[in-house]
Parts: sequence; structure tokens; C-alpha cells
Amino acid sequence: MTVGSFPLTRLRRNRHDRFTRRLVAESSLSVDDLIWPIFVMEGTGSVTDVSSMPGVQRVTLDRLAAHVERAAKLDIPALALFPITPPDLRDEKGTDAVNPDNLMCRAARLLKKEFPDIGLIGDVALDPYTSHGHDGIIRDNYVVNDESVDILKRQATCQAAAGIDIIAPSDMMDGRVEAIRRDLDESGFVNTRIMSYAAKYASAFYGPFRDALGSGGLLKGDKKTYQMDPANSEEALREVESDLLEGADMVMIKPGMPYLDIIRQVRDRFAVPTFAYQVSGEYAMLMAAIRNGWLDHERAVMESLLAFKRAGANGILTYFAVEAAEHLRRA
Ligand code: PBG
Repeated sequence: MTVGSFPLTRLRRNRHDRFTRRLVAESSLSVDDLIWPIFVMEGTGSVTDVSSMPGVQRVTLDRLAAHVERAAKLDIPALALFPITPPDLRDEKGTDAVNPDNLMCRAARLLKKEFPDIGLIGDVALDPYTSHGHDGIIRDNYVVNDESVDILKRQATCQAAAGIDIIAPSDMMDGRVEAIRRDLDESGFVNTRIMSYAAKYASAFYGPFRDALGSGGLLKGDKKTYQMDPANSEEALREVESDLLEGADMVMIKPGMPYLDIIRQVRDRFAVPTFAYQVSGEYAMLMAAIRNGWLDHERAVMESLLAFKRAGANGILTYFAVEAAEHLRRA
């Protein structure tokens, strides 16, 4: 890198006016980068607010098409679906996860029919379906790996059959990507993609999401025996490498803003499609400050999203997707 010295070199020259700033910008955000997570619930005729995520709603299936219409009009490329399973359908083993008529599968079929061009991303983990709120099956107070993987791969194939285009395992069990890939292939879903939550941390920033799903109160203990320790980054690279070797097409880092260093390292090391999840707690944190008048809404949101692109992300799962797309269209 060559930097001349002052006064011959004045780095402020390239910031002098808007047109120059536009020409020298190193990264940019577009609608193509956005994935919108949505919450679907049972029942009819209802749209409810998630209290810790102002502006985010849960919708019943009959309201889903209208809800998604906005994203479709803005040409947002993909949605990430999260079902809210009523407590009476939850059990120890998360059985409803493999029910071809569960809420997730019904939502996927409906959306594929109404919006064939929008990509559908299906979260694979048992936590929306278990009575204990963990992502796998529990034996002797431990989330067991291999037995959980057996159910998770069936959950993935069940979602693919319902029309999910991209399987996104968020469970952090070992070996699940390969098991899912093989099960998908054997069932004829060779083109169903896998976006693995490769480096997913045991984070405090998922709190509002668990409120949205109603799994927060259920969760016994924490997820530290399977989700990663926030202290680690080399381990994140090993997680990403193993998921890629097992057949992942794209990888995700989660949460987003506190882990931008991981995004950069993954992108530099592996040069594969890399996604960031700006999670519920990041959304809640920004919205809390915005609602207090402490941050400028539009500027804070757009800057937070651009930071992911600068860090090397190819795309971002964000609850701000619709408003960001609206902003980009106006700009
Ligand atoms: C399920 C899952 C979680 C999130 C996405 N998938 C919660 C968790 O692991 O406890 C969190 C998303 C968010 O906070 O926005 N395994």
C-alpha cells in the first residue's frame, strides 16, 4: 500500500464532494443482498407485534401472502421462514419438525404458489418444536449429537419436499451438513441448496427472537454445549471448513455486528458465498435507541447494513430488509 505524505497527499480530496465519494466507494448495498426473516403462526386473521422487536410481526397463514407482498414488490430475493409452534404441538423430541403438514411446510407451499420467484430459506433445528426449547434431543441433560442429526436431516428433506429452496441448519450439531446433503440427494433434491449457520455463537443477542417464537420461557439452561464460545475465532474457521467439506453451498455467521471480524476472516480464507445474520437483539438494540431519538433511524440502519458488505458478506439476513429495500429504491 502506498500513501504519499502531506501536503502532496491529502486523503480528504477524495471526500470533497458527493460525486467523488460515490466514485471511490469500496462497497455498496443493494436489494440483491437482503434476506427477510419472517415469523408465521397458527390461527387465522391475526397479525401480532413482537414487543421486543418494534416493527416486527407474527402473521397467520391467511395473512402471509399480504405480508410478503411488500417484499415481492421490492424484489427482495429471499425470505427466511420461522414457524411459531403452539405449546401443545411441542414435545421432548420435536416430532412436529418432521410432519409434512406442519406450519413451516404449509407456509412454504403457500409462498411457493403465490411467489414462485422468491427464494425460501428454511431454518433446520428443533427448537421451535421441542418442549424444552433446545435445538436437538436431550438425554441425561445433554443435547445428544447423532440422534439429533437423524431427525434434523429428516426435517430438512421434509422442508425441501414442501418447496424450501435453501436449507439452513442452525442447530450446530456435528456432521449435520453431510447427513442433510445425503438425505436430500437420496430423496431427489439434488439442487436444494444448503446455507449452513456455520459459525453460530451462544449469544445473548437471540433473546428477542426467542420471545417472538415463544421458546424463551421454555428454554432450560443455555446452548453453550453446541453453539460457539464468543471468545473464539479460529474455531469458527474450522466450523466453516468442515461445513464446506460436508457440502455446504453457502455459509453464515451469526450474530452479525459483534462478529464482523469473523465474516472478514471467512471471506478471505475461503472465498465462498458468506452471509451474515443481523439477529433479533441487534435489531432490538438499534430500534430501542432509534425510538428514544438517540440515533437517526435511516442512517443508523443503512450504516449497520453497509458494514456487513464492507466486512465481506455477500448478503444479510435482517429484520430491516423491507425498509432498507424501500430506502434503496428511493435513493
Ligand atoms: C434456531 C434459531 C435461533 C435464531 C435463528 N435460528 C435462536 C437460537 O439459536 O436460540 C436466532 C435469530 C435471531 O435472534 O434473530 N436455532
